[in-house]
Amino acid sequence: MARDKITVVGAGNVGATTAHIAATRGLGDIVLVDIVQGLAEGKALDIAEASPIELSSPAITGTCDWEITAESDIVIVTSGFPRKPGMSRADLLAKNVQIVNDVSTKIARHSPDAIVIVVCNPLDAMVYTAAKVTGFAKDRVMGMAGVLDSGRFSYFIACELGVSVEDIKCVLLGGHGDDMVPLPRFTSVSGIPITELLDEEKIAELIERTRKGGIEVVNLLGYSAYYAPAAGAVKMAEAILRDTKAVLSCCAYCRSEYSAGGCFVGVPAVLGRNGVEKVIELDLNRSERNQFEESLAHVKELAAKVDKLL
Ligand code: LAC
Repeated sequence: MARDKITVVGAGNVGATTAHIAATRGLGDIVLVDIVQGLAEGKALDIAEASPIELSSPAITGTCDWEITAESDIVIVTSGFPRKPGMSRADLLAKNVQIVNDVSTKIARHSPDAIVIVVCNPLDAMVYTAAKVTGFAKDRVMGMAGVLDSGRFSYFIACELGVSVEDIKCVLLGGHGDDMVPLPRFTSVSGIPITELLDEEKIAELIERTRKGGIEVVNLLGYSAYYAPAAGAVKMAEAILRDTKAVLSCCAYCRSEYSAGGCFVGVPAVLGRNGVEKVIELDLNRSERNQFEESLAHVKELAAKVDKLL
């Protein structure tokens, strides 16, 4: 059987780390592409040279040449400016929309059958851009944010309770911004709702830390997080390529679901070989619905800005 081909666009921190994790997981043949001469080549060579030591896959190529990306099964888009201290994700829109526009045109030309996972910010607006420019079926374009935000929420809960990170399962809705909506009612430790284990005040504190999780790292590092975002992108790619039907919170196209009215926004979804195979709609209570609608309104505002810029 032919091996899967994964293109990672952008050889910066997120892209190179994504390629590295994908290689250690043996996901397939990886192409790392960047416009900066030598950057993708150098990082791919370094990752390949680690393969005999890590017993990972050496099947990785770095390039500036999009021809080499041809007929990829998955394209992970990490190219774009990252945040600096004092910036919101939305501040990146004007610059990153041009980058994602250009990259999406190249994806459509070289890999017309690919599934696209967007990672750059502002996430939901960049997914919208990629879907619009590629013209791909909406189930084949999605964004990685919920897996990262779930990772952060799960980590904070596990630390608070002194339990294994593996045992935490959670769901997040809404855009990848400060108004994202972690759902404690649907968050459990091995099936035990966290509302049984933590009081309301503590849960509110962990939700707030999750919402500000990105900027917490930016303020420490001076630039955006990349280990956890890259791990999130690979988790989604793996669910798709291995057709696991994993249920992951991610930015997916909602038609009538959540009354979103045709919008890319964070929701729990089933991922498999066809991309987003199903959006799982939860019966939200009033407070959850209000929070989701507020976040959705911001996501739609940014999509409208994209329409003006494209
Ligand atoms: C974060 C950026 C990648 O949340 O959006 O860390």
